[in-house]
Amino acid sequence: MPSPTSGKIPQHVAIIMDGNGRWAKSRGLPRLEGHRRGVETVRTVVDAARAIGIRYITLYAFSVENWKRPPDEISGLMGLLDYFLKRELDNLIKNRVRLLTIGRTSELPANVQRELNRVIEATKDFKEWTLVLALNYGSRTEVADAARDYAAAVQAGRENLADASWDNFSRYLYTAAIPEPDLLIRTSGEQRVSNFLLLQCAYAEMVFTPVTWPDFGQADLQAAVDEYGRRERRFGLTTEQIQSGAK
Ligand code: IPE
Ligand code: IPE
Ligand code: MG
Repeated sequence: MPSPTSGKIPQHVAIIMDGNGRWAKSRGLPRLEGHRRGVETVRTVVDAARAIGIRYITLYAFSVENWKRPPDEISGLMGLLDYFLKRELDNLIKNRVRLLTIGRTSELPANVQRELNRVIEATKDFKEWTLVLALNYGSRTEVADAARDYAAAVQAGRENLADASWDNFSRYLYTAAIPEPDLLIRTSGEQRVSNFLLLQCAYAEMVFTPVTWPDFGQADLQAAVDEYGRRERRFGLTTEQIQSGAK
């Protein structure tokens, strides 16, 4: 019997784009070639997400831990990010996709920050579709930043400690303006979340696929959405409560 959520389209899909290095290695290519191919996948997946009706897509592009990678890989990734932003601006405008970022973007190279600001500014009025890039992102850093800002607001008298709650605190996270992910996908076979949206994914459905990011395509996204549609999200309730429409 289909569950009540059967056929549902997730409003927000978050993706841990993993496996670029292994994709390249298995072909005898440099890791950066995998990242280059990974950039092509981004456009494919953003287009596919719109076709399915997914309104928010968040892509984990660079973690706070990724600074520990070899310097030439890091500069290669930053170069690709710059290239991606320059190349995609027209396409995002044409398709009415708003760009947002989460993470400590102020620590990214100046040229990347400039391109980010340009694209964010040019797409800020679009409401239908949102692409969120997680850049220099880590959940623990996000919580530390939010706790600092929350404490400062308490000190300044803008928040009252007696009102401390998830709803109040979560307004200080990078994701304050973004709904929580319904579906989290990780490519390339790893089954871990690697410091990504740990609090926001409290009730996300998770789908792990062995396909590496450069090989991930429209059919793989559709398969993950179909899997999501077969799941029953209960949010702590019983199946009977869900079926009788309680929430
Ligand atoms: C994901 O691919 C891209 C980034 C983390 C920037 P990886 O580079 O992690 O690829 P693998 O995991 O080494 O195959
Ligand atoms: C997670 O992938 C970060 C991004 C996809 C940007 P990693 O490849 O860095 O994660 P670990 O190290 O395998 O956990
Ligand atoms: Mg990896």
